Amino acid sequence: MTTLTTPPIAPHPSLTSTELAEFVQGARRRVELALGRFVPEPSDDPSADLPAQLSEAMRYSLLSGGKRLRPVLALMAAEACGGSLEDALPAACALEMIHTYSLVHDDLPAMDDDDLRRGRPTCHKAFDEATAVLAGDGLLTLAFEIVAKHTRPEVAARCVVALAEAAGPSGMVGGQMSDLQAEGRTDATVEALESIHRRKTGALLRAALRVGGLTAGASGDILQALDTYGHAVGLAFQIVDDLLDVEGDEAKLGKRARKDSDLGKWTYPGLLGIEGSKARARQLADEAVSALEPLGDRGARLRALAVDLLERDR
Ligand code: IPE
Ligand code: IPE
Ligand code: MG
Ligand code: MG
Ligand code: MG
Repeated sequence: MTTLTTPPIAPHPSLTSTELAEFVQGARRRVELALGRFVPEPSDDPSADLPAQLSEAMRYSLLSGGKRLRPVLALMAAEACGGSLEDALPAACALEMIHTYSLVHDDLPAMDDDDLRRGRPTCHKAFDEATAVLAGDGLLTLAFEIVAKHTRPEVAARCVVALAEAAGPSGMVGGQMSDLQAEGRTDATVEALESIHRRKTGALLRAALRVGGLTAGASGDILQALDTYGHAVGLAFQIVDDLLDVEGDEAKLGKRARKDSDLGKWTYPGLLGIEGSKARARQLADEAVSALEPLGDRGARLRALAVDLLERDR
């Protein structure tokens, strides 16, 4: 359990943690249902275009739990901007598909070599490495197909750009490359680590806020506020992930803990220590909360979530 020593920031006087949890649960349910519909089920027909094993592996990794944070953030942002959850749902599902693909590949022996994810054997353990590579590729490409087909044309292209920039070589993929290249090196700096974390994890979380705002037709000022919030929450999220690797409980996490130092990963606890890392995460949550001023009361859920994520145990 990651508990912070400094007093909690008051998220919003009118929002209880039960109200936040209810919204999050409802949003998760909508996302789960839509994900199940978007990813094709295996077919018995041997001449079907979609090989059953590929479809099974994609569904295995995608429909296996997970907090669904990125789609929840997108739906929350859309709602905060006066948009409909329905309009934001395809882009929200695309975010979860891209994220799940990144996990499937992150777990491969060539990367972090993990055997447990979301409480189950990783995709390459349940199937094989080639299937895991292809299931990841399938989820990534399907994500873009879904946004392009199911989002209003005038916003679809902007969502695709946001997702591609966040997931691509200057975002998550590049961050993953830098994360691997840094392994075992002893010249870590906070600036370099921040850059890795912002790209490998922060970028997609930031895009979640943006696509939520875009599907709701948010103005430039509001998109800017969401972007500042996403930038801060995105980095804070990976700092807490690093902390959970040190302090977390594997059963709750559904993935192996205490692996980062064995792999020689650059992490916040490794560089700033536990308390220093918690202080940095709290400072970022504070920045996120402040950024939402232009949204007024409509930003209450997002503000509460930024604070809530500091205390997560999974
Ligand atoms: C884990 O992400 C990998 C990181 C980017 C830190 P999550 O903690 O969101 O994993 P799930 O989706 O809940 O399984
Ligand atoms: C993963 O970071 C970031 C991704 C882009 C998947 P980690 O390697 O720390 O994520 P976990 O701890 O395996 O979930
Ligand atoms: Mg990794
Ligand atoms: Mg990993
Ligand atoms: Mg980690």
